[in-house]
Amino acid sequence: MVRFSLQWIAFAEVLRTICFMCLDSAGICCRTFNFHVRLVMTNSVFTEHLHELRAMIEAALVEELAKVSWPGRLKSAVEYSLLAGGKRLRPVLVLLANEVCGGKQEDAIPAACAIEMVHTYSLIHDDLPSMDDDDFRRGRLTSHKVFGEALAILAGDCLLTLAFETIATSVTGAGTISGLQIAEQTRILASAAGGSGMVGGQVLDLEAEHEAFVNVKNAEMQLKNTGEHRCEAGVTAVQKDVNSADSAGVQGERSPLIPDFGSSDSNRTAETRVVELSQIHRMKTGALIAGALELGAATASADADSRNRLRRFGHCIGLAFQIADDLLDVTGDQTRLGKKPGRDADLGKLTYPGLLGIECSRAKAEQLVQEACDEIAVFGDRSRWLRELARFIVERDH
Ligand code: IPE
Ligand code: IPE
Ligand code: MG
Ligand code: MG
Ligand code: MG
Repeated sequence: MVRFSLQWIAFAEVLRTICFMCLDSAGICCRTFNFHVRLVMTNSVFTEHLHELRAMIEAALVEELAKVSWPGRLKSAVEYSLLAGGKRLRPVLVLLANEVCGGKQEDAIPAACAIEMVHTYSLIHDDLPSMDDDDFRRGRLTSHKVFGEALAILAGDCLLTLAFETIATSVTGAGTISGLQIAEQTRILASAAGGSGMVGGQVLDLEAEHEAFVNVKNAEMQLKNTGEHRCEAGVTAVQKDVNSADSAGVQGERSPLIPDFGSSDSNRTAETRVVELSQIHRMKTGALIAGALELGAATASADADSRNRLRRFGHCIGLAFQIADDLLDVTGDQTRLGKKPGRDADLGKLTYPGLLGIECSRAKAEQLVQEACDEIAVFGDRSRWLRELARFIVERDH
């Protein structure tokens, strides 16, 4: 009888354990499932929002081009590049920054179109034979391949001027933008696009290219000689640059960190090289991205603290964006990218993976995104789209 009871108890115990195990793993499954569903939902809601904003921008760009009366081939060339897709990251940033600061969406549309026009002009010129000499862009042949070099240059010029015309004429549009805001938007865009921003960065990028074949090797050797500190050395250097980036100010004054590629090599350490590279990236790419955030904040007449936070967010994601672009040039696929990978190596460009390696570059981009998100955390839930976009910047495959 006792033996029978003991067997029973043992059997009941086994049964209980099995039940608990099942319940427990069911719980884990549920939690994992919930987490996954939440993640997928957040991503799909974000993707949907992104699609809506992009569609709005596409429509506004088509509308702007419908207003112009230019020689036929010039208009075709501008349309060819401007309406060729693209991620529309910069105009989306204008709209999101405006939204975070409580602005009206219709007020931000002209500035959003304007920055995309400047960006598209920068791409047309960047691809020219005298610059990066690229054959593919946004999944099609580059402008100069289709229209010839002269028309490609002129299409770029035309987009740059159209950008400012679009901002200037927005005073008469559907929005409630003031003359003073238009003056401010003009200053922000000019400063982001000009010599202390994108154009200046492009010059430094080309100057670095000529000596990169020799000097990247030297820098790599120096970094390798620091052994396990290789990554930290680079990260510290970038950190210095990010901190100093903000001291360049809203006006985008000439930064004291502008690299001098004429200086003697022996005076330049590996750490200096990384700082120089960050400065190039910050100017050629980061300036327009930070400019987009500033434009959105200015449109919403945001207070100084919000503007500063959004600008710093922009500097961080701008640098992360170009690091991701450098990485995709090594690891990316032409069909997804819409441009030919491997060009940086062909041209001997100074790049993050070239200087720090792939893993360290990824880690740096991640760190920058984290810093960017921390900067705008004070906006709470209102900044969730910007934080999602920051993640997209480093996780993208195109
Ligand atoms: C490419 O910019 C040029 C860089 C600044 C790296 P994007 O990757 O944003 O290009 P599109 O607009 O999506 O074509
Ligand atoms: C270009 O950087 C930045 C611009 C100002 C256009 P890249 O030369 O790396 O851009 P991709 O890789 O050609 O798009
Ligand atoms: Mg380039
Ligand atoms: Mg290029
Ligand atoms: Mg590139």
